[in-house]
Amino acid sequence: SLQEFEHYMLKEITEQTKSVEDTLAGRISEKGIVLPELDPLLLAGSLSKITRVHIIASGTSYHSGSIGKKVMDQLLNIPVETSYSSEFQYDHPPLDEQTLIIVLSQSGETADTLSALREAKRFQSPIIAITNTPGSTVSRKADSTVYTKAGPELAVATTKSYTCQITVLIMLAIWLAEKLGSRDLHPLPELMTELKRLPEYVDSTLIMTQDAIDQFAQVTYDQEHLFLIGRGLDYVLALEGALKLQEVAYIHADAYAAGELKHGTMALITPGVPVIALATQNQVMDKLISNIKEVKARDAFVVGITTIGDELLSEVVDQVLYIPNSHPFLMPILAAIPLQLLAYYSGTVRGHDVDRPRNLAKSLTVE
Ligand code: M6R
Repeated sequence: SLQEFEHYMLKEITEQTKSVEDTLAGRISEKGIVLPELDPLLLAGSLSKITRVHIIASGTSYHSGSIGKKVMDQLLNIPVETSYSSEFQYDHPPLDEQTLIIVLSQSGETADTLSALREAKRFQSPIIAITNTPGSTVSRKADSTVYTKAGPELAVATTKSYTCQITVLIMLAIWLAEKLGSRDLHPLPELMTELKRLPEYVDSTLIMTQDAIDQFAQVTYDQEHLFLIGRGLDYVLALEGALKLQEVAYIHADAYAAGELKHGTMALITPGVPVIALATQNQVMDKLISNIKEVKARDAFVVGITTIGDELLSEVVDQVLYIPNSHPFLMPILAAIPLQLLAYYSGTVRGHDVDRPRNLAKSLTVE
């Protein structure tokens, strides 16, 4: 019940162990990923002809879609695009019955996303919806729906639906790799093993980060500007962290691909400005560390988020926050949690109505 928590947002952040567990339940077997919801598409033969994938969503759902794209890029042999729902119909991307459309919407009622879905339907593209709301318009208009099982989400800021959307997208990526052929099936067994343990990792992340983030928010709450940087999946995560801080804490937070700072934004890095460096992707760690040294040289205050066991990052940042170490594809789920908590605690310490931020609504039914 809400009684234990002061706000829905904190309740929903804390519920993520269970929501991820419910979303995985019954979908992982010895043989692979089980998604019977997609059988009609298989039977109709529409999937065997697919030559590309296009992922469409708004806001936070667009960020989980962008994580899905980066995972699919590594697992599938076909190109994967993403679009904001609000831009999709004006971009006129190539669409046909060989383009698999994936639409993501927590509410299933976002007007921008419904328009994009209508546009895709005009070209007879097969459509998979990922939504948290049974019976929603998105689920009725799509050919098949894979539900996130986050349960009702009442705070305007999406938290548990986001981590469940990524969970579904990773399962869908594996499923598509199994059905359509993969670049390299070798990494899949390890990914499956780690997926099964995801609820455990989510739980540990909550335990490891909640108090530290609460304390950090008490120190940074009066900052007007904040930067988040990362590479690869961490860059997409930075975008989501920035959106949460804007939405709930009204902090001007901005996300950058770490290697891009030197192409202009570095001019904004002044002494004391907080920079959150997301460092969960080992294969880009060395390059990220060089980028962190660049902002440290301008006296930024850098907080790093990395995995247990890391020894490199702690030497170059002012403060480190550790989270569990899992498969790189799953790290955006775990690392999202301290960023959600940061938005929450910064918003509350600033005295905002975190469950109902100004100027925003839970479901956006106008374009
Ligand atoms: O219900 P949807 O997933 O379609 O909503 C999309 C966005 O409006 C939503 O994710 C929004 O960005 C959130 N309030 C962010 O926390």
